[in-house]
This record gives sequence, structure tokens and C-alpha cells, in this order.
Amino acid sequence: MHAEHNDLLTRIGPGTACGALLRRYWHPVALLDEFDARQDPRAALRPVKPVRLLGEHFVLFRDAEGRWGLVDRQCPHRGADLSFGRLEDEGLRCPFHGWKFAVDGRCLETPAEPAGSTLCTRVRARSYPTRVQSGAVWAWLGPEGEQPPAFPAFDCFRAPATHAFAFKGLWHCNWLQAFEVGIDPAHPSFLHRYLEDPSMHEGAYGRQFRAPSAGEVDGERWPMSRIMREFPSPEIRFDAVAEGLLRLTALRPMTERLTHVRVTHAAFPATFVIPLSETITITQLHVPVDDTHTYWWSFFTSFGEPLDHDTMREQRLSCVTLPDYAPKSGAHDHWGFDPDEQRTRTYLGMGEDDINRHDQWAVESMGPIQDRTREHLGTTDKVIMANRRTLLKAIETVRAGGTPPMALAPAQAAALVGPDTIDCIAPAQGWEAHWTERAAAKRAGAPWLAAGRVAATA
Ligand code: FES
Ligand SMILES: [Fe+2]
Repeated sequence: MHAEHNDLLTRIGPGTACGALLRRYWHPVALLDEFDARQDPRAALRPVKPVRLLGEHFVLFRDAEGRWGLVDRQCPHRGADLSFGRLEDEGLRCPFHGWKFAVDGRCLETPAEPAGSTLCTRVRARSYPTRVQSGAVWAWLGPEGEQPPAFPAFDCFRAPATHAFAFKGLWHCNWLQAFEVGIDPAHPSFLHRYLEDPSMHEGAYGRQFRAPSAGEVDGERWPMSRIMREFPSPEIRFDAVAEGLLRLTALRPMTERLTHVRVTHAAFPATFVIPLSETITITQLHVPVDDTHTYWWSFFTSFGEPLDHDTMREQRLSCVTLPDYAPKSGAHDHWGFDPDEQRTRTYLGMGEDDINRHDQWAVESMGPIQDRTREHLGTTDKVIMANRRTLLKAIETVRAGGTPPMALAPAQAAALVGPDTIDCIAPAQGWEAHWTERAAAKRAGAPWLAAGRVAATA
């Protein structure tokens, strides 16, 4: 890749071409958990948080009516930091001279101005549309005066709160390399390899590659870790199921009769949907904080039992520090690297419990912005190549005033359901019918999708 292209695809601040593209999409900016009295009593008392997104600074706050506002962090008066503002019933007041702003950015008061002053009718804080969805507050930074796109009818946005769980984590790297891990179906056989299979039961809940694959080999259940380890060279296929929505199929032929099928999806520009277990999927978004920091966001969706929120939260909180959800391990401690573990237990040597740390090492160790002029792509990188082509094209589309893929109108959004994921052992002949039937059965078993009934969103 030429250096100019690498710059074009990775720089996302205000005024950049890729930044203009990514401002066309909704991005999650805070977990509702961050304002939950049970998780953080102080934030619940004063729901005000600084937010950094796409290289810009904002402040997110909730007024007494429960309305969320996202406004520029610098006060429109003389630029003091509104994240230190005094939260009052109808808005946020800047402590410097008392100017007060509503969630929609209207200036409500300028108390130091002479009586009768109308200055406040001429001042506004820039504010951005927000929406609460699936356990998070989302924001849209698109052009003023334009309508934000609709959310697709994806399962992760339809599941009720009982069957949904959201979490996030900070990576010290550019957004694109974070996303490119997820659309690389070859890496789990190596990066996440266990040299021996961990127990499929003990500690498996809510963790990846612990659960057994659906289906059996000679009457035996196989953990995903064994399949990944024993069949490390998948045949990768990808098909567009809609504009901007790719289905990735990784086939791992096991015997003459059997093949392993893993189906995941990539939704433009930075989302992938993968199976966690037979009944749980993860929808993972990669949200640029700035050019060299990215939040991964995971939205877990259960098609079976309600999710055990406490256990899932506890597992994940044990790996990060608050308030930034920054991983405890990282470059500073060599991501917890243990050469003994690498020799005896895992391929990577960075822990068995938190496979997210494996991905973190992969994306952070490339450097803050991967120098793609020096890479050598192989056959297994075909989805990454296809995605870069789509990205370049979408940047041009936005430059030319057009609408990029997945910036959806309501009717298009309503038609985008699923997407399905699978991790199953299937007959070598007829694997396609096999996995689609299994996926359909999984959906049919979801209490919140049953009989066309869609519960209220989380
Ligand atoms: S800088 Fe905010 S009121 Fe003056
Ligand atoms: Fe991974």
C-alpha cells in the first residue's frame, strides 16, 4: 500500500476524508453502566462525562428529564472545559462565568451579562444527535442539518435488556488495524490457540473459544479450541449479502465426511458479528477515539437464556481500569507475556482467560498506526483487501456528496436483519444447508424473536 493511501484510510480527525466518512455513522460513546449508581455512584449523581471521538472533544450529560446531550467540550464563551460544569436540572452551567446550556446546545443563561442582554439568544454550543440503544449512548457527528442514518434491524439492536450486554475497552492503536483483526478468519488458529484444551465447562461462560462447536465428531463434542488448533488453514470465502454487509465463511475440512464451518459477518465500516457460543453472538464495533486510540465495543446477544450480567461484567471489569476502560496489561508490561506459558500452554503466552488481550497485543504491537507500506498480504488476507477497496470507494463517495454503504435510510435499515453466525461441524457435502438450518433453529429458539414478536430494545 502506498503511504498516501495508508494516511487516507487511517486519519480520522476533523477535516480528513476518512473522518468525513466515519462521521456518517452512529458511534457508541458511553455505556449506560458508566452512569449506573450500582457501578459508579458518583457518576449517577452527576451524569457528566468528557468524551473523545474521532479526534474531537465533547461532553456528554443527562439533564433532570433524563435527556442526553452531547456538546462540544469547550464553552462557546471563552473556551473553558464544560466537563467540569455544574449540572443543573435543565442543563450544564460553565463554572467560569455561569453560562448555561441545554442538551440541544441552546444557551439558556448568561448571568454576568447586563440585565436585558439578548446575547444568549445568539450563542449556541454545537450539539449532536444522541440515542440510547442496547446499553449504550450513541452519537452522530454528521453534517449539521442532515438526518442521521437509521439503525439496521440487527439482532443486537432488537434484543431486550435481559438478553443483551454491552462492554468496551480501549486500545492504543488506529481504528483500521483494530477492525482488520476481526475480518481475518485465519488468526484464531494461532493467536488464540490453546496447546491443551481448557475445560469446556469450568469458567467457559461468556468466554470465547471455550465452548464446544455445535455438532459432533463420531459422537464426540469438540471444543472450538481443538478445531482451531488441529485445522489451522481455513478456506475463506466472502459474499456481499447487502451493500456494505459481507458474510465471511471459514471452512476447515476435518475428515472426508465432515467440515467445520465458521460464519461471521462484517458490516461497513467497522463492525463484525461473531459467535461466542451456540446461543450467544458478539457484535463488535471499532470506534476511533483519535488517530491512535480506539474503543472496541462488544454487544453480546443471547438467543437462549437471559445473560448473566453480573458474571459477564465482573469478568471483563477485572481486566480494565476505570474510568477509561483501559486494559490493565499492555505495552508497559509486555501484555503480560510469559515465555513459560508460551512453551507449555498457549501459542502466544499472554494469558488464557482474556482472549481480548491476544487481539490487543496483535493490534498494539503493530505500532500506533500500522505502516502498511511494509506489509505482505497473503491469501488469508483477502477480506482485509476487499474491505480496504470498499473503504477507499466509500471515501470517494462521500467526497462526491454521495451516501456511503450502511448509512441507511429507514426502509433499507428495516430489511437488514441478523446477521447470522455459526460455529459448527457440518457434513462436507451439504454444509451450506446444514449451517443455515442450524442458524434458523437458533433464531427460532430466541424467546424475543419468537412468532415475529420483537421485545422493546434494551
Ligand atoms: S468560558 Fe464558559 S462561561 Fe465563560
Ligand atoms: Fe481475535
